[in-house]
Amino acid sequence: MVQITEILKGKLTGREVELRGWIYRTRTVGGKIFVVLRDSTGVLQVTITKGEVRTEQFAAAEKALLESAVKVFGTIVQDKRAPGGYELRAMDVQVLSFAGKFPITEDQSEEFLLDVRHLWVRSQKMTQIFRVRHTVFSAIHEYFRGRGFWEVHPPMITPAGSEGGATLFEMDYFGQKAYLTQSWQLYAEALALAMEKVYYIGPSFRAEKSRTTRHLTEYWHAEMEQAWAGMDEVIKHAEGVISHACQRVAEERPREVEALGRTPDFLRAVKPPFDRMRYDDALKFLRSKGMEIEWGKDLRTLEERSLTEGKSKPVVVTHYPQVSQAFYKRRDPEDPKYVLAFDVIAGDDVGEVVGGSERETDLEVLTKSLRDQGDDPEAYDWYLDTRRYGNVQHAGFGMGVERLIQWICKLSHIRDAIPFPRTPSRFSP
Ligand code: 4AD
Ligand code: MG
Repeated sequence: MVQITEILKGKLTGREVELRGWIYRTRTVGGKIFVVLRDSTGVLQVTITKGEVRTEQFAAAEKALLESAVKVFGTIVQDKRAPGGYELRAMDVQVLSFAGKFPITEDQSEEFLLDVRHLWVRSQKMTQIFRVRHTVFSAIHEYFRGRGFWEVHPPMITPAGSEGGATLFEMDYFGQKAYLTQSWQLYAEALALAMEKVYYIGPSFRAEKSRTTRHLTEYWHAEMEQAWAGMDEVIKHAEGVISHACQRVAEERPREVEALGRTPDFLRAVKPPFDRMRYDDALKFLRSKGMEIEWGKDLRTLEERSLTEGKSKPVVVTHYPQVSQAFYKRRDPEDPKYVLAFDVIAGDDVGEVVGGSERETDLEVLTKSLRDQGDDPEAYDWYLDTRRYGNVQHAGFGMGVERLIQWICKLSHIRDAIPFPRTPSRFSP
């Protein structure tokens, strides 16, 4: 049994092979059936000629509708007219499962395709993205493991949030209130004092109310935390891991990204360092372009678009104003109006792919910030122990993996970066 990708690489030309897959397209012209067969790696044209396979096999193949499962045996030949440049000339065809009339036809609405997502995941676009996603995940693991980071895992059910109450998913935990994790951050800080350099990839949950093209309510979060490190050091890791993922995708998935609208060369050029600017300088730049923006406010889509316009690499914005920032971000010792926090912002309307910071180590400052944002420091008492016992400088970040995939694959909507998206308006199928 071979896979279509091996055939498309030209390795099996002239050989007799056996192939298994599903009918992606089919049409009969005279005494020939042209079946486009798909497997997990791609699509290939199979030509079934009357007289070259058994009569009942030809009849069965002619009757088989889209998504029927088949097994074919035949010869691989190069053929410029076939999609991908190769075809299989069948000598033996078996229909293993006759499919009913497939509900997905051409030109269907996005909503319908989301209703039948369990079938739409078979499409070429989806499977191309899944293969890129597979490579991105392995590249993230490879990057951190290759640099001495330990993979450790936080809980998903938590007693308190880290990113503010507005996006917390509340759940009933045997009569007590609990929350789905928004970030591993607080646990990571505890673990960094044990394992020093830690990372993990896992789901995060955000009760986002607004519908946008870059927010999911359940997304995969790649996070790292490092003891004895400051903001600069972890920015380098943010650039490093993004670049590494781009290099790997360019190397391993050139056909996929090309089909999705990104060139491997574009990805190869995503190398550190990225352009960096302080928040205040970003504001100056945006104001010079005639945009009005209040000091202290987060950057919005149109401002992020303007900052990344014409740039082929993401940009890094640092030193955000302390107001309205999460309680754990370290005040800049040079000017406590700012925090040592940064975002990595990608173009094509993807926006913030990474958010990170150095962490506040001053117990008093932390406790006050919690109170200021309306939280009870008592609920965070276990976390505050990290500052009571063996307190050291540390920093870390979180990267939205679907945002990175959205950018790498040039997708207009984040929902296509994950097989079964969870959005404010949908959690089914
Ligand atoms: O900026 P955020 O909220 O930062 C944190 O959660 C930190 N505690 C991370 C850390 O320092 N360990 O989220 C980090 C990243 C964002 O930059 C964005 O890429 C992604 O998570 N993200 C989302 N992705 C998809 N859908 C959503 N609703 C997202 N919210 C955040
Ligand atoms: Mg953020």
